[in-house]
Amino acid sequence: MAAHDEGSMLETILGYMSKIEGVRKIDAVLILLSEMGRVLVNADRCTLWLLDTQKKELWTKVAHGIDRVHMPAGSGIAGVAVGSGETVIVNDPYRDPRFNQEIDRKTGYTTRSILVVPIKNSRGEVLGAFQTINKQTAAGKFEESDIKYLKLASTYAGEAIEAAKLNEEIEETQRDVIFALAEAGETRSKETGNHVQRVSEYCRSLALLACLPKKEAELLKLAAPMHDIGKIAIPDAILLKPGRLDPEEFAVMKTHAESGYTILKGSARPILKAAATVAREHHERYDGTGYPRGLKGNDIHIFGRICAIADVFDALGSDRVYKKAWPIEKIVEEFTAQRGAQFDPALIDTFLAHLDQFTAIRERLKDI
Ligand code: C2E
Ligand code: SIN
Ligand code: SIN
Ligand code: SIN
Ligand code: FE
Ligand code: FE
Repeated sequence: MAAHDEGSMLETILGYMSKIEGVRKIDAVLILLSEMGRVLVNADRCTLWLLDTQKKELWTKVAHGIDRVHMPAGSGIAGVAVGSGETVIVNDPYRDPRFNQEIDRKTGYTTRSILVVPIKNSRGEVLGAFQTINKQTAAGKFEESDIKYLKLASTYAGEAIEAAKLNEEIEETQRDVIFALAEAGETRSKETGNHVQRVSEYCRSLALLACLPKKEAELLKLAAPMHDIGKIAIPDAILLKPGRLDPEEFAVMKTHAESGYTILKGSARPILKAAATVAREHHERYDGTGYPRGLKGNDIHIFGRICAIADVFDALGSDRVYKKAWPIEKIVEEFTAQRGAQFDPALIDTFLAHLDQFTAIRERLKDI
């Protein structure tokens, strides 16, 4: 069953890849990856440690139905590999001071060889490590080929773990958002039907056209629907006023940007962090005359600059309680006039050069 040559090694990896594909829960992914690591190098045990940078721990899931196992981030041979980002091979652990003999003493197990390969994401950040124990050969030692195989496995593991993490984060974020909304009071129907969904799609497209990495574009797409969340704190008399707002009313309305930020900023999750930034900066203007902080140019986060264009494109093209929808020619005229004033000039150029993409999104998600 062990991988004895390159061909069967590839077959093993491919076999596990198809098993892991479609598995959504990170704990289940860990169990499958550990099994893959053990088979690949013909070890007695394999543990996939994941690094929790906030808690400064390594944790793993050994089997279904058994709780996660935790240890301090720096401990043992696994800790050395995670800390340094380098492979560590120890074929004589009892002579190695970095080895923690305590675990063997407690479990009655005898560790004779250890190979640990760090797992990194696409940005080279260490996510955790594969730790294999006790090579199942007569010599009982890990070799160069084992390092090679486990490194390959760790490249794939990095991707699988990132995908599973994103998945979990989306689910957790949805819960967080519902919670945040509930806490902030009642939810009222505000903007027309699909406004937030369209803004979300415009943001993703514009981010990709502006050459942001795909992950950043996805992050912005998930964060953008919350850009106006602060409007839940605006009284109906202002929010739903059929006519123009007077200056005092508009002053109240403007607080929605900072309140949105206040609602969202407490979370450590990347999606909500991005959402907090977008909520706060989507009404800043490139020339520095926007609100709430009057940030200028590239001091405005790229997410804020993108969302500003997406939001106004949608607001101008839609009926509001206070105005009718504008025809597309008038919107293009306005965007051209606001190039470098309200909006980032480079982003406006990109937007207008690909206008058909945005009108297609609008058509697909139009309000009925
Ligand atoms: P919103 O309706 O989602 O509009 C978002 C942004 O689109 C506006 O931000 C503004 O930059 C742009 N926009 C919308 N309609 C027009 C327009 O007719 N002309 C121009 N040049 N730009 C437009 P802004 O101005 O900071 O407004 C933020 C929010 O305040 C709006 O979100 C809306 O909820 C509310 N609001 C603004 N003006 C009025 C108003 O006269 N009456 C009412 N009832 N609400 C208003
Ligand atoms: C493990 O790989 O799960 C730890 C092995 C041991 O107890 O030494
Ligand atoms: C260690 O890395 O020092 C401990 C390895 C093990 O789990 O036995
Ligand atoms: C080792 O520590 O012997 C492994 C070196 C490496 O491949 O990183
Ligand atoms: Fe807004
Ligand atoms: Fe909006």
